[in-house]
Amino acid sequence: MISTVTMKWNGKVLELIDQRKLPHVEEYTKCTNSDCVAQAIKNMVVRGAPAIGATAAFGYVLGAMENKKHLTAKKMEEVKLKLAATRPTAVNLFWALERMHSKFLSELTNNPDEILDILNDEAEHIANEDVEVNKRIGIYGQELLPNNATVITHCNAGALATVDYGTAIGVIHTALDHGKKIHAYVDETRPYLQGARLTAWELMKLGVDATLICDNMAGWVMKTRNVDAVIVGADRIAANGDTANKIGTYSLALLAKKHGVKFYVAAPISTIDVDTSDGLKIPIEERPHTEVIEVQGVKIAPKGIKVYNPAFDVTDAELIDAIITERGVLRYPYVESIAKTVGSK
Ligand code: MRU
Repeated sequence: MISTVTMKWNGKVLELIDQRKLPHVEEYTKCTNSDCVAQAIKNMVVRGAPAIGATAAFGYVLGAMENKKHLTAKKMEEVKLKLAATRPTAVNLFWALERMHSKFLSELTNNPDEILDILNDEAEHIANEDVEVNKRIGIYGQELLPNNATVITHCNAGALATVDYGTAIGVIHTALDHGKKIHAYVDETRPYLQGARLTAWELMKLGVDATLICDNMAGWVMKTRNVDAVIVGADRIAANGDTANKIGTYSLALLAKKHGVKFYVAAPISTIDVDTSDGLKIPIEERPHTEVIEVQGVKIAPKGIKVYNPAFDVTDAELIDAIITERGVLRYPYVESIAKTVGSK
């Protein structure tokens, strides 16, 4: 059983809060099969790297249930590939699916009912671990924020982007629990507006003093408003520390460098991909043109205009002051700190 705002799982049905409708409508999409889960990931009902990973794990369990009568390695490979073909950048998706699939392969000699129980337990472990890991990230991360800190956030790396608690927003949450006051400038995060719709909503619920800004205001805010730190999540961190995160993160890191503002990435170890040597090798998802041409269904650009819509960018490792993980705070050069903490290829 899992029951958080982001997702609910009762062993048969996965309910996902439809993040496309937030903050105005709180509605859950119910999935009882793996196709539905794959569509939910692809169409952004659920988003955020750790949330996508846990969702895929439950999708894998549903796939095993569908194939109970012929629970073969071939069938489950197909389920894995279907779920993996949804979004290319967040490595947590592939990490969770590989973990589920290797568990399945190691239990193949059991009877189907036993295998289903084992897979269900593994998916629930992935979900529960995520929450624990985020709380540990919060404890390490809050030490980097002084009392009365002013921070800038980008995209949504809060409870909704994870099973619960969040990574970057989890750090702010823990700082509050430690009695610190934090003021957060929330980048709206065009084109999908995760900041305006999701982070603003979550921070208000947490009681954080939050101010919404358009993405192009961040430089001026850094220049004039005594910003201490930018704190963001990550979709994939390469072995050298280069970090893929929501489009606009790279520009923020450059602005932070110019203004002497600390730039922190908060992410679980499962987001570190030691098989990818550097950021240029991280696949960057391109999303539909409509996301740029329209805002919430309203057309804002001339018909026929060409559009480029990369959903992520890569921030060079040397622009990142620290990567906050559940195993501690990693520092540059990340080739060394990552190899030491996570291992190397
Ligand atoms: O396209 P999205 O909304 O899935 O992108 C999410 C992000 O870029 C987050 O910052 C990242 O996944 C970290 S979430 C803890």
